[in-house]
Amino acid sequence: MKPILVVANWKLNKTLAESLGWLERLRGLLPGPLDRGEMVICPPASYLAPLKELMAQYSWEAAIALGAQDVSQFFEGEYTGEIGVRQLADWVKYVIVGHSERRRFFGETNESVNKKVRWCQEYDLTPIVCVSDFSQVVSLPSATTPGKPLVVAYEPLSAIGTGRPEDPQVTEEIARKVKAQVPGARVLYGGSISPANAAVFAALPSVDGLLVGGASLVAEDFWEILQAVYALR
Ligand code: PGA
Repeated sequence: MKPILVVANWKLNKTLAESLGWLERLRGLLPGPLDRGEMVICPPASYLAPLKELMAQYSWEAAIALGAQDVSQFFEGEYTGEIGVRQLADWVKYVIVGHSERRRFFGETNESVNKKVRWCQEYDLTPIVCVSDFSQVVSLPSATTPGKPLVVAYEPLSAIGTGRPEDPQVTEEIARKVKAQVPGARVLYGGSISPANAAVFAALPSVDGLLVGGASLVAEDFWEILQAVYALR
């Protein structure tokens, strides 16, 4: 069976105590490291260090990887408020790039997304590039380095946070197109993933995993998604 990547995007949610509590609760539920796939938690950036510390305390680095929700398009310098690739590289393995909320509220463009992809790949972080339509995929190959890991997450706007996921057949068609356009990329689906629909999307032949927003906020719900995807007991 194919390996499945499941990514939790917490967005702008949770206090530090809630984040650590979430990890403790998931630890109580999960029998051990996943044997076919990888789980990634993308918390607010200020919680990366404490979560990593707690994971090290439990020797849990093999079970869960950390990811950032964004990275600056700039390397260093006078860019107040930004977090650059070097500031993330010690903490994370993955970086979400170009999420539709970043494109909508923070002026992210395909050009800035491509710069971020280049920084990530240069520093051996895996970018998870979010696209809501195929036009956002077209310029991607010019930014990617062959042989470096790349993940593309298809997240249609109509499905994000609405409880109305994309049609699985349409998702499969788009995932197949993305793979043809960006050879070597793994493709995720995101948008209203829930314990009830996770297995359907994860089983699509061209889909390599899921990007989960709302349903990742409660450890027990996320655990149900993991159980559905990995058939865990
Ligand atoms: P959702 O969000 O699962 O809450 O729809 C997905 C995302 O925005 O990544």
